[in-house]
Amino acid sequence: MIKNSIVIEAKDLNKSLVVSQQGSTDANSKEMLQILQDIKFKVSQGESVAITGISGSGKTTLLGLLAGLDVPTSGEVILLDQNLSSLDEDQRAALRLGKVGFVFQSFHLMDNLTALENVMLPLELDGNLSLKNNDIRARAEDALKEVGLEHRMAHLPTQLSGGEQQRVALARAFVSNPIILFADEPTGNLDSNTGNEIIELLFSMQQQNNTTLVLVTHDDALADRCQTHYRIDAGQIMNARKSMNESKIAS
Ligand SMILES: Nc1ncnc2c1ncn2[C@@H]1O[C@H](COP(=O)(O)OP(=O)(O)OP(=O)(O)O)[C@@H](O)[C@H]1O
Ligand SMILES: [Mg+2]
Repeated sequence: MIKNSIVIEAKDLNKSLVVSQQGSTDANSKEMLQILQDIKFKVSQGESVAITGISGSGKTTLLGLLAGLDVPTSGEVILLDQNLSSLDEDQRAALRLGKVGFVFQSFHLMDNLTALENVMLPLELDGNLSLKNNDIRARAEDALKEVGLEHRMAHLPTQLSGGEQQRVALARAFVSNPIILFADEPTGNLDSNTGNEIIELLFSMQQQNNTTLVLVTHDDALADRCQTHYRIDAGQIMNARKSMNESKIAS
């Protein structure tokens, strides 16, 4: 149970990577690449938050840290009242189960499973639910109906268009009624009309379920539809709606 309305808190997050220096005469030459610097912010339950920034600015890296898919070099993430640094990888996965959903640019569906089986999967994996198979199927069918794919349930991902695959991914993300949805460029691989349809669906499902949304996007117009808009620039996070001088969150 969530004790307060803050569902994500980033505390002084830093992420650096050691990378080999290409072109150096010394084969062992390494360089420290600082990707994120002193990132701090809080996200409330039901809030929609956009994260923008140029390519390579660290948006996906930040999402990975917030979701506990990756670990920071220093700093902490409190996700659903749990300090992720006190959890190992399996415990972080267990925390996400049924509570955290994902939508990615490249859909990430299981190619050997039908649309229906893809949407059933998170419910089958969640041992806490102990749902009967028929109930799992019924919930997955409802989720696919909600995204307008009742006529494509038996299709494999390769038999679906990009927009249809992203609808399946949305149904899979929302079928567990997650508290938080992380979306990383969910329209990046779609034409603009299809992308707009997916976005309408995403916001409508988010509002209907009061899901907390953390949306990574290149698109400032899309970011403006979120309640909060942060921009990552030179590793730091800014509130994109304030003027440059007062926008640094860390100050
Ligand atoms: N495993 C890695 N090894 C070395 N560098 C990495 C690694 N992962 C990410 N980076 C670097 O970290 C930086 C941030 O990457 P990230 O994928 O978070 O950017 P992004 O803002 O999501 O970009 P895009 O908009 O293109 O998706 C980039 O400079 C990238 O090259
Ligand atoms: Mg990215």
